[in-house]
Amino acid sequence: MKKETVLSGIRPTGYLHLGNYFGAMRNYVKMQDTYNCYFFVANWHSLTTHPDTKALQESVYRVIAENVACGLDPDKVALYVQSDVPEIAELYLYLNMLAYKGELEKTTTFKDKAKLQPDNINAGLLTYPVLMAADILIHRAVKVPVGKDQEQHLEMARNFAERFNFRYGHIFPEPHAFNFGDNLIKIMSLDGNGKMSKSENQMATIFLADEDDIIRKKIMKAKTDSGPTVPNSLKPDYIENLFTLMKIVSKAEVYDTFDEDYNQCNIRYGDFKKQLAEDMVAFIQPIREKAAAIQNDKAALHQMMKQGAEKARESANATLQEVRKAIRMIY
Ligand code: ADP
Ligand code: TRP
Repeated sequence: MKKETVLSGIRPTGYLHLGNYFGAMRNYVKMQDTYNCYFFVANWHSLTTHPDTKALQESVYRVIAENVACGLDPDKVALYVQSDVPEIAELYLYLNMLAYKGELEKTTTFKDKAKLQPDNINAGLLTYPVLMAADILIHRAVKVPVGKDQEQHLEMARNFAERFNFRYGHIFPEPHAFNFGDNLIKIMSLDGNGKMSKSENQMATIFLADEDDIIRKKIMKAKTDSGPTVPNSLKPDYIENLFTLMKIVSKAEVYDTFDEDYNQCNIRYGDFKKQLAEDMVAFIQPIREKAAAIQNDKAALHQMMKQGAEKARESANATLQEVRKAIRMIY
């Protein structure tokens, strides 16, 4: 049976963190054996909000390196950079003729970002969902592993695909956001305010590039309280989050011991955090070191990116040929 096609993209707008790892990259790695996978770095998209490109190139290298360090195998998946696949830009152009100003202006992410950058409400920002639809449709992907915040973009991609199919003939399948059911995880910020994120409180987010001592410092500063006074009480969300992290990075016995201590009101948060910090260091260290080694080996990186772009362009070209034929753009 033909494998289903999966696609997802990450914008190179900052350092990747534990939230990205558990919410996105770990799922990519799980999917690479079962599906026909395309994963890419959305560097065109980053221009809509980050016009200063001084740090962009290194950021792109880092996203590729960190994905590979986390276990993504460039021989199994197509791992590429958006701007290396010009076919996406041509499809974006055609899809733009099927996207209406009104619906683009109503998009939540557009409204949010327009508020954040009132002096730079550029056309690229407005048509962000069209470019995203082109990313997906160019490989005729059906499963798109993304967070909840991207669901509206997926709905728009389905609308553009449907309009194209209706007007020019059926070429595109319907893409859907893909979640791993129960495994949908949200890593909260260590200060208990919102989620870990690239741009919020940096001291409350653990980055995959953080050095050992920074990791220890961040965890030791994580929000706790004076502890439970009634056995088996419910954990407040900031404590639950630390336990979630422990479940992910520590041995099951270690987790169970601290959980039992909590339930018996014997927990000492100092010891708990020290243990979590050491297990976190042991978890991040090999990823950080592997990613740094890959990032410093530009020849190997370029080879990976070239291989990814070739795979992606082959599939993109096949779709684009059909698209051109359908809209009578071949002479
Ligand atoms: P950020 O908010 O850090 O800029 P993005 O919005 O670029 O992250 O998200 C990239 C991917 O990582 C998305 O699939 C998103 O669902 C996932 N992700 C981001 N932050 C978290 C988090 N704290 N917990 C779980 N998943 C997350
Ligand atoms: N918009 C996505 C985000 O902000 C990134 C992205 C761009 C993407 N193109 C995509 C995700 C195509 C999935 C599929 O996280």
